[in-house]
Amino acid sequence: MAKKRILITGSNGLLGQKLILGYKANPIFELIATSRGQNRMRNASGYRYREMDIANRDSVFQVLAEEKPDAIIHTAAMTNVDACELDHEGCDLLNATAVQYVVDACNQLNIHLIHLSTDFIFDGLDGPYREDDTPNPLSYYGLTKLKAEQIVMQATCPWAIVRTVLVIGITEGMSRSNIVLWAKGALEKGETINVVNDQFRTPTLAEDLAEGCMLIADKGATGIYNISGKDFMSMYELVQHVAEYWHLDKSLIKPSTSDNLGQPAKRPPITGFQLKKAMDELGFNPRTFKEALALIDSQISEN
Ligand SMILES: NC(=O)c1ccc[n+]([C@@H]2O[C@H](COP(=O)([O-])OP(=O)(O)OC[C@H]3O[C@@H](n4cnc5c(N)ncnc54)[C@H](OP(=O)(O)O)[C@@H]3O)[C@@H](O)[C@H]2O)c1
Repeated sequence: MAKKRILITGSNGLLGQKLILGYKANPIFELIATSRGQNRMRNASGYRYREMDIANRDSVFQVLAEEKPDAIIHTAAMTNVDACELDHEGCDLLNATAVQYVVDACNQLNIHLIHLSTDFIFDGLDGPYREDDTPNPLSYYGLTKLKAEQIVMQATCPWAIVRTVLVIGITEGMSRSNIVLWAKGALEKGETINVVNDQFRTPTLAEDLAEGCMLIADKGATGIYNISGKDFMSMYELVQHVAEYWHLDKSLIKPSTSDNLGQPAKRPPITGFQLKKAMDELGFNPRTFKEALALIDSQISEN
């Protein structure tokens, strides 16, 4: 029987790299990893890498027509929320227009599209959210990701939308950090850090997110799925857990409010997700936050 072909966009990113590792461990799939520029994973065996710029319609159509995957996991996006607030044009191009290119190609080739979205489509007034709650984004990033969802929902190919929350983890050549690595690094250097206590999330280990995407691809599932961690906490509590886990000085962590940070993009105060649908329909079972930290710790030690 022919192997199922999976194509990943944004394979140099945090989720992209975890998907590569997840699929490599399961060789019943043929994997094609794509991202912009060179492959940043040192070990390039067990899959093929192709450069693909999602902002270039011809590049998307050419690669997808040549590879004809059964499913595509579309992780590539402009993911820096503040950069999106300062560059609307760039954010529109990567987070909405490029999604239209991917959808058009998937429609033409009847590819199962698994598209990554975010808790930032919500206003954060009444999380943790269910899949059918009403979006109301506060930031430009959230607005473009909601636009992308609407584009995906119009697709004629089979589609799934995977919404996730505050992804944590470590991988090679990361283009941006995340709260766990940032807090650990700063506290190890003895720096005082201000952390908001008015934003609540269900932080998501990148491996668990990859697992959720793979379950959807494997089952050919369609519709919207919440895929996140299961532990709900404030950012302040999250950083306290980081300090406890690595035995760092908790007195360096100062509680702050979102208004005090003065970041360009507004963040939704209370998000996080209810996971019943993904657990019941997909068998999704994420790690606890402590187990997530333990895995990150073991990966830091390996390197
Ligand atoms: N991280 C979170 O906390 C979070 C939360 C909610 C939802 N999400 C969503 O989850 C998805 C994956 O996030 P992530 O954390 O893995 O993000 P990430 O680490 O920033 O990865 C995104 C990848 O997309 C690549 N990319 C950007 N522009 C591209 C282009 N024009 N063509 C091809 N590739 C391009 C980036 O390349 P470079 O590395 O070269 O820049 C990067 O490797 C995104 O759709 C994001 O919106 C993330």
